[in-house]
Amino acid sequence: MRGCALKFRRNLYFQPCRRALSISSASSPNTHDHSRSLPDPFALVAPELSQIRKDLVRLLGSAHPGLDEIASYYFLRPSKQLRPLLILLFSQATNGLGRDWPLKQWMSEQPRPGGCLENLDEPLSRANILNDWNPNIKDKTTLYDPEFTFSLPQTPKELPPPPLSIFSSLERELTSPLSILPTQMRLAQIVEMVHAASLLHDDVIDESPLRRGSTSAPEAFGKKFAVLGGNFVLGRASVALARLGDPEVVQLIASIIANLVEGEILQMQDVEADDILAVPSSQIAKNAWTMYLQKTYMKTASLMAKGARSAVVLGGCMDGETYKEVAYAYGRNLGIAFQLVDDVLDYEAVEDTLGKPGGADLQLGLATGPALYAWEEHPEMGPLIERKFGEVGDVEFARDLVRKSAGVERTRALAIAYAEQARDVLQALPESEARAALEALTERVIKRKS
Ligand code: FPP
Ligand code: MG
Repeated sequence: MRGCALKFRRNLYFQPCRRALSISSASSPNTHDHSRSLPDPFALVAPELSQIRKDLVRLLGSAHPGLDEIASYYFLRPSKQLRPLLILLFSQATNGLGRDWPLKQWMSEQPRPGGCLENLDEPLSRANILNDWNPNIKDKTTLYDPEFTFSLPQTPKELPPPPLSIFSSLERELTSPLSILPTQMRLAQIVEMVHAASLLHDDVIDESPLRRGSTSAPEAFGKKFAVLGGNFVLGRASVALARLGDPEVVQLIASIIANLVEGEILQMQDVEADDILAVPSSQIAKNAWTMYLQKTYMKTASLMAKGARSAVVLGGCMDGETYKEVAYAYGRNLGIAFQLVDDVLDYEAVEDTLGKPGGADLQLGLATGPALYAWEEHPEMGPLIERKFGEVGDVEFARDLVRKSAGVERTRALAIAYAEQARDVLQALPESEARAALEALTERVIKRKS
């Protein structure tokens, strides 16, 4: 199984232009097989998701009530919680399988870094060094004190090593009933915090007055406070990340933050005028596609891929074990499918919540999948993309070209192809309800309407 399920199909986007490509013709029989009933992924971990949401706001308490309000603003309204869901389902689908699982399970009962739930709030440096007062965690945090006295270090407490007997069995099997470790619950919160921080910044960049139909944070608090609020959430997420006690997970999550920024920068980059003159149009389109998919990975799929991989690492899967690779491959493919569907929905919206016709991406100057495919059929799209739909009438003209082309259908077909790859890699995991829920999620992502 190993290897065969993990091969990627390359250049999925260079499919022949088939105007009438339908969802069912693009998918293999299994993807939309309604005869099998798959569990509702959200229902499977509903209590955990609700606990994660409740407890998140606790982590964001500060000495400045205004700051709490901005930082928790996007957590206090309904959200999809797709990213925490991925973490929880991958934890359940792989816990017990990794070589280090007995150690992780033993740790989850110990009062030590990366251990039991209460300990995940324990400062690694003294509270009066951290000065990160959180009124919701009074016993473990302190307010900045203007008085500071130099003190000699305390002798660190010796932690007893894990008993070797925990490794008595070399057999590894899925935990029954399916389990989630405290560190994995906290990881689910951390990825949601990183996501929310990126939205706080994104709404400043996009100058969006609304998010999910309600007033956006920059509209409610001003741009400066929205940016600062996002930075504060990232700071608290970083502290929580360090307390998980796993350097590989720190590396994975920190690199997501860098990827999010890179994705945003790539999104702002122009299709160069020089390129348009110097290279054949097919090459320009290829470059534009490469950049578009790279940006899609950076801004959306990276978090899902590395978040899922981190969950599996926290469950004790080690290098050389398939499960980490499955998690990454699944998250990467699902994330790209998710963003492609997002880009399709942007065109399908008859009206957005501001009452403007769909195509908000065009108004932001962004050429996503549908426009790039339309460019293949209608060369007039090239100059519009190059000037980021900036001249009067460009947005409307581009929208018409997309409508006249198979751009939307082909982008949807591409999303289905990525979702199928996500589903296929799951075959490398043992059967479980969590695996079935992950499979169901690949269908949900394609069928979603918002
Ligand atoms: C929403 O997507 C935006 C993102 C997924 C990423 C935004 C990233 C940044 C602003 C970089 C800064 C990151 C951090 C962590 C501080 P969208 O714009 O396609 O969708 P939406 O605006 O319609 O929700
Ligand atoms: Mg945006």
